[in-house]
Amino acid sequence: MNSPVAFKDFADLDFARLPLKISTERYHSPEWQEKERRAIWMKTWQIVGRADELPNSGDYKVYSLLDQSWIVARGQDGKLRGFVNACRHRGNALCEGKGHAGRFTCQYHMWTYGLDGRLLAVARPDLVPDIDKAEHTLVEVPVDTFAGFIFLNPDRDAQPLAEFMTRDVMEGLAPYKLDEMTPVGMDVREELDCNWKVVMDAFSEGYHILGVHPELLAVIDLEPAAATWGFYGDHRTAGSPFEVKNADVCSVEQQVEAIRSLPSTFPSVAEVLPTFEAMIAPHLSADGTYAFPAGESVRTILQKATRQTLTAKGMDVSGLTDDQMSDSRGWFFFPNFFMTIRAGEATTILMTPHPSGDPNKCIWHVTAYMWLPEPLRQQYRAELVEVKEKGSYPYFLALQQDYDQMERQQRGLRNEGLTHISLSQEEFCVAQFHANIDKYVSRAG
Ligand code: FES
Ligand SMILES: [Fe+2]
Repeated sequence: MNSPVAFKDFADLDFARLPLKISTERYHSPEWQEKERRAIWMKTWQIVGRADELPNSGDYKVYSLLDQSWIVARGQDGKLRGFVNACRHRGNALCEGKGHAGRFTCQYHMWTYGLDGRLLAVARPDLVPDIDKAEHTLVEVPVDTFAGFIFLNPDRDAQPLAEFMTRDVMEGLAPYKLDEMTPVGMDVREELDCNWKVVMDAFSEGYHILGVHPELLAVIDLEPAAATWGFYGDHRTAGSPFEVKNADVCSVEQQVEAIRSLPSTFPSVAEVLPTFEAMIAPHLSADGTYAFPAGESVRTILQKATRQTLTAKGMDVSGLTDDQMSDSRGWFFFPNFFMTIRAGEATTILMTPHPSGDPNKCIWHVTAYMWLPEPLRQQYRAELVEVKEKGSYPYFLALQQDYDQMERQQRGLRNEGLTHISLSQEEFCVAQFHANIDKYVSRAG
């Protein structure tokens, strides 16, 4: 079974096309942030939640970005719709947070709207005798779903979501069954003292593993030649195999230990470990070393154990390759969504600028997803945690390391004496992200 989409090798990456120098202004200047607001945030599809957060007609939530806000509501026909969060009378904000309603009644002068945005009634109709109700529906914006996520686009003339996401992204992710995954263990939102792009950059490269996550060196092959990339529209994927072939770097026994420690970053591996241990046990010699038969390795055994465990749990893994059983791939949806995904689990990071408009701050929303059989999904669903006190949330090790690093980077970037940063070839995806940003900003003029 091959992946349904084609990946590129390091040698195929076109470095001539992308600038490896990036101005630092875009990380701290309010003027640049305003450019992004107009060119990117008001023009692109962005994830505003999960479809199963709003399962019933009448369920709604507000999506806010900088000083803008929209309502996403499920109508009586079961369809999700998006509206500008403003009453058509004198503009009062209609909704806050999340909830359930049969209709939306504005608190100010009691105009009432249906879940489909139609103006149903006005208070004292004798005072507005000539109102054309069809002219005063809530302002609708495009909403659609993909992979279980609700996407909204503030631009009423936006291209369809499927076109924006591209067929490659949709087909590449379909076998993972992300739409059947549930937040388990971690769903957390917190303010960070860095620009939103600092976070996107950090999750766009593996170069920092050397400095920030040394414990992953025993698990992931960091040679750029071992990695594979895919670029589809404005989006991309990149992944390195979970295997260190060079025994001088990491012995087989060290690799076994590294797999045993994986659950701290990839919680689903915990349920695979008993099968993995049973499969490696026969190959343990008296001197404590492992000798696997030809064609078998720590990696292939982890793959077999994962396939067996997920199948026993009830997940259809027939569309997933052996590589996808072990390796975690990074997927990036422009502009602000990153996830690592492997068979049975994903961790997603959604970045938004800070509501105050301060470009030195942002909000990150990190969620761990796991595939569970349908009857267990509600029971294990994680509640959203809004972190108020800095440093109080217990992120898993790799995430905590990134969290600390990103704020440190912003403290350097905001120095006016530093005019630009320079990227290595390994940071090709960082360069590609910023080239995309430039494309949108220059398009908006
Ligand atoms: S502003 Fe909503 S009814 Fe007046
Ligand atoms: Fe990291």
